[in-house]
Amino acid sequence: MFDEIYYKSLRDYLFTTWSDIQYALPTFYYHILLKDCKNVLELGVRHGISTKVLLLALRKTGGHLTSVDINECLETQYGIAKVGLQHWWTFINENDLDVKWDKPIDMLFIDTSHTYHQTLAELEKYSPFVTGTIFLHDTVEYPCRLAVEVFVDIYPFWKYEELGGQYGLGKLTRNKMR
Ligand SMILES: C[S@@+](CC[C@H](N)C(=O)[O-])C[C@H]1O[C@@H](n2cnc3c(N)ncnc32)[C@H](O)[C@@H]1O
Repeated sequence: MFDEIYYKSLRDYLFTTWSDIQYALPTFYYHILLKDCKNVLELGVRHGISTKVLLLALRKTGGHLTSVDINECLETQYGIAKVGLQHWWTFINENDLDVKWDKPIDMLFIDTSHTYHQTLAELEKYSPFVTGTIFLHDTVEYPCRLAVEVFVDIYPFWKYEELGGQYGLGKLTRNKMR
């Protein structure tokens, strides 16, 4: 029932259907494939648009997605199971700052409250485990952008690039030159 054609159409549907994250979805998908990511952590699920795209890519690399949300996101949990993507997924229903975390992360995607203190705390908590890239949604929002700029000032071995798009897409990678 869920074959390659089904998952390709689901991917193309998500890529071509408007959502506030639509413009960033191909970046996530092809980043996971190109970097052969195996362990991805997503903070912020809501309706699971980004979650589905991350899962579609990880299904191809044989990787795993852990998603954290302070809300139960029951409809999303149901929706992920309905399209057969639950095998590549662990959902944690908790405040992300309270989650016990000790695993390496190839790619971290932050899309929660976008407030200054929360974003900075998320970066400080999870970045030590990130071996690859951190993406942040909504960097056009001043508190979120400020948190990223302060983070790279405190930890200059991280480099910030703004990829743009309607609501912004921040990319943090380890700066090898410093
Ligand atoms: C913008 S939505 C995520 C959208 C999702 N990434 C997508 O593109 O489909 C933000 C989510 O972050 C969650 N959230 C807010 N603060 C949080 C926290 N401290 N810990 C975990 N999740 C949080 C909210 O419950 C909400 O579901």
